[in-house]
Order: sequence, then structure tokens, then C-alpha cells
Amino acid sequence: MRVVILGSGRGSNAEAILLAQQQQRLGAARVVRILSDQPGAGILALGPRFGVEALFVDPAPFRTKLEGEGEARFIAAVQAAEPDLVVLAGFMRVLKPGFLGAFAGRIINLHPSLLPSFPGLDGIGQAFRRGVKVTGCTVHAVTAEVDGGPILDQAVVRIEEGDTLEAVAAKVHAAEHALLPAVIARLSQRTRE
Ligand code: GAR
Repeated sequence: MRVVILGSGRGSNAEAILLAQQQQRLGAARVVRILSDQPGAGILALGPRFGVEALFVDPAPFRTKLEGEGEARFIAAVQAAEPDLVVLAGFMRVLKPGFLGAFAGRIINLHPSLLPSFPGLDGIGQAFRRGVKVTGCTVHAVTAEVDGGPILDQAVVRIEEGDTLEAVAAKVHAAEHALLPAVIARLSQRTRE
């Protein structure tokens, strides 16, 4: 199962996927390309470290969505890698029908809350400020509804009395690093059946 990862940030989840692959915990999945809309993103530094092609793709002209020429460039860069699965690991742009249609049924997203609670930006901060006692992370199939596609799996994190936002964030990220590679491994077994 050929996997393309899209991300905008430090890439700790992409790193968790690549470490799982190195340790043969990624089933039949293999990361073939990493793409970022941010030229300086930490996620791109994983390429040389793990021997995977990692490229910046210009997302212009929009700031928060992927549409128009930027969308066309991303579609071409993903298509060139012939993916069976496109993984959004901290890709901070809203996808539009062009991209969604090109890879229909093959895109999954990681979100740092127990959806449908706290969709959108800053899922961890939203949960923390609301004072919930449990939060976590979700991997879901991507549809046109932002953070609204079918849920594939979730992991739960308890917020203890006295936890700081930073402490909760660390717990959620640790949960993400275990959940996302496990879901990808499971999907790769399904593809083989
Ligand atoms: C992760 O916490 C992921 O859940 C979140 O961005 C972070 C990326 O971290 N994604 C979203 O908020 C999507 N709406 P990383 O770059 O270290 O993997």
C-alpha cells in the first residue's frame, strides 16, 4: 500500500509513521512521498533522514484552503506518487472537491480531539478550555465536511486535576503517535485481503 503524507508542521506524526515502518509495524504500507505547503516545515526534514522523497508544493493563491492552481499542483504531486492512501498528518488546509475527487475514498485525517467534539482549529485547546475530563484523538476518512467523515478509530486521554495545557497536549500527541500508524497498518491489511 503506497502512502503519501501531507503535513504543514513539525511532522511528529509523520515521524511516528516512518519509525513504525522502520520497525516493521506498518503492515503492508510504505511511505513513498511527503508533501508540505510550508517550505520550512519540520516534516520536510524527515525525507533525507528516512530516505523518502519530501517536497514543498506551492499552495498559492489561498491561505487556508487548497483550491485553484495550488490545488492542481498538489493533485499532480500526489498523483505522481501513485498512492493507495493519502494521510493528512497536520495538513492545515481545507480540501476542496477537486482534490477530494481525485483521491476519493483514499484520504484519511488525524484530528487532536474525540470528534465530533471540538472540530476545527486547536482541538486540544478547545477541549482544555471547556474543562472536559476526557479528550483524545481521532483518525477519520476525509469527506467534504471538515472533520466530519466516518471515524476509523480513536484513542482516549484523561485530563487530570492540575494538568496544564502543555501536559494535555503532550498526552494527546503521544496517543496520536500510537494511533495513526496502527490505523494505517490495519488499512494496509484490508487492502491485501
Ligand atoms: C497533530 O496534533 C494533528 O492532530 C493536528 O496537527 C498536529 C500535527 O502535528 N491536526 C489538526 O489539527 C488538523 N485539523 P505534527 O506536525 O507534529 O504531526
